[in-house]
Amino acid sequence: MKKSLIHTCLVALCCAPCVLSLAQAADKGPAEITLESTIDGNSKPKPSAFPHGQHQTLQECSACHHSKDAEGKKIDYVEGQKIEKCETCHNTKEVTMSAKVNTFKKAAHKQCKTCHKNTDPKLAKCSVCHK
Ligand code: HEC
Ligand code: HEC
Ligand code: HEC
Ligand code: HEC
Repeated sequence: MKKSLIHTCLVALCCAPCVLSLAQAADKGPAEITLESTIDGNSKPKPSAFPHGQHQTLQECSACHHSKDAEGKKIDYVEGQKIEKCETCHNTKEVTMSAKVNTFKKAAHKQCKTCHKNTDPKLAKCSVCHK
């Protein structure tokens, strides 16, 4: 009885941290991200700050994340969907991608700047994101 209790406690103690950290890593992504174009990037890079964690307290995942089907059509976000980097799909080599959003810059500006502008025009100033 006592022995099995100790055993249970040991298992719980050893496994809790890894189970927890796996769940966090798989779910939410990093709290702070520096976004940088690597495929269609400028010769002079212009990285953007992105407080991901802060945005997660303001918006649903579906406000930003989505996927695509075999024909290259957009699929809305559903919980548990595989989340990939924007550039994986938003780049000039993806021939099925609309020219309006076929670079990281265009897709990011469309998503980030549109919401910022609608929230408060001051948030759409270049220096808010490009420090
Ligand atoms: C709401 C955030 C945000 C605002 C505001 C914003 N940008 Fe961006 N911009 C981004 C993101 C995100 C990217 C894609 C990642 C990267 O390369 O920085 C990007 C990319 C770029 C790039 C391409 C960088 C590269 O290395 O290829 C340029 C140039 C740029 N932005 C200029 C501007 C200018 C000029 C303004 C103001 C008129 C502006 N941006 C406002 C978020 C923003
Ligand atoms: C305001 C927009 C926005 C919201 C809301 C948001 N994310 Fe993100 N998320 C991003 C961007 C942008 C990246 C960076 C993608 C890149 O590097 O190209 C990212 C990256 C990630 C990554 C890492 C992907 C990788 O391979 O690097 C995960 C995981 C993730 N988000 C999960 C979530 C979950 C879960 C939620 C909801 C709880 C959420 N995000 C809400 C914009 C958002
Ligand atoms: C798995 C592929 C894929 C990933 C990853 C992806 N997108 Fe998209 N996205 C698409 C497709 C497909 C469309 C539809 C494009 C069209 O209209 O031709 C789209 C459309 C868009 C649009 C324009 C339509 C709209 O909803 O306003 C924006 C803006 C956008 N994506 C931003 C992003 C950002 C920012 C990220 C990263 C957080 C991202 N996308 C990640 C595939 C992807
Ligand atoms: C759906 C709306 C929405 C989208 C999409 C969005 N943001 Fe924001 N963002 C906000 C709001 C609202 C704030 C102001 C938060 C506050 O003041 O508490 C903000 C604040 C910020 C800040 C300033 C944080 C600070 O406190 O200094 C940065 C940087 C930023 N966003 C970058 C981005 C980038 C880069 C993207 C695209 C990858 C993005 N945002 C997409 C709504 C959005």
